[in-house]
Amino acid sequence: MKTLITYCTTHGCTETIARELQQLLGQDVVLCNLKKEKAPDLSSFDRIIVGGSIHAGQIQKRIKSFCKQHAADLKEKELGLFICCMDEGEEAQTHLSNAYPEDLLNHAKATACLGGEFNFEKMNFLEKFIVRKVAKIDHSASKMDKQAIRKFSNRMDRIFNPFLFLA
Ligand SMILES: Cc1cc2nc3c(=O)[nH]c(=O)nc-3n(C[C@H](O)[C@H](O)[C@H](O)COP(=O)(O)O)c2cc1C
Repeated sequence: MKTLITYCTTHGCTETIARELQQLLGQDVVLCNLKKEKAPDLSSFDRIIVGGSIHAGQIQKRIKSFCKQHAADLKEKELGLFICCMDEGEEAQTHLSNAYPEDLLNHAKATACLGGEFNFEKMNFLEKFIVRKVAKIDHSASKMDKQAIRKFSNRMDRIFNPFLFLA
């Protein structure tokens, strides 16, 4: 099964998670950073995972337009949708619902908030100011959720067996 993981990252966290998923999902997994390259032809992939990060409540515009432009193709695939963010619980779920179109969320085999990290070394002055002010944090911190990443990958790997209910 050929898999594409297409993502956007601002400070590298989503990329780290995309690479982790690549390792977990095994062979034939292609990564595409939408900020650096154009998405490949989707017809050659059976499974597509889309991921982006939340900044001031929003996912990257490139992720939004990718989903809009390829909505019909994405609905034909085994689809996974994830976000990286520092909020947790209901707030994180709200970010996830706002990040992707409802029909894609309903179609997806797996959807998840996979945690995030504040990386002060990579933030510019304004970003540091916002994080200090809003999150009241003044140092790098990680909430990357390894367990959720593994669960997401397992769900993407699960094979649908219509006779399973008989077992
Ligand atoms: C300026 C700024 C604004 C952010 N806004 C939010 C936010 O509104 N909600 C949230 O949950 N996380 C927010 N975050 C946390 C990011 O989602 C987190 O740092 C994420 O891991 C970034 O992933 P990336 O490095 O792939 O871009 C913000 C981070 C920065 C630097």
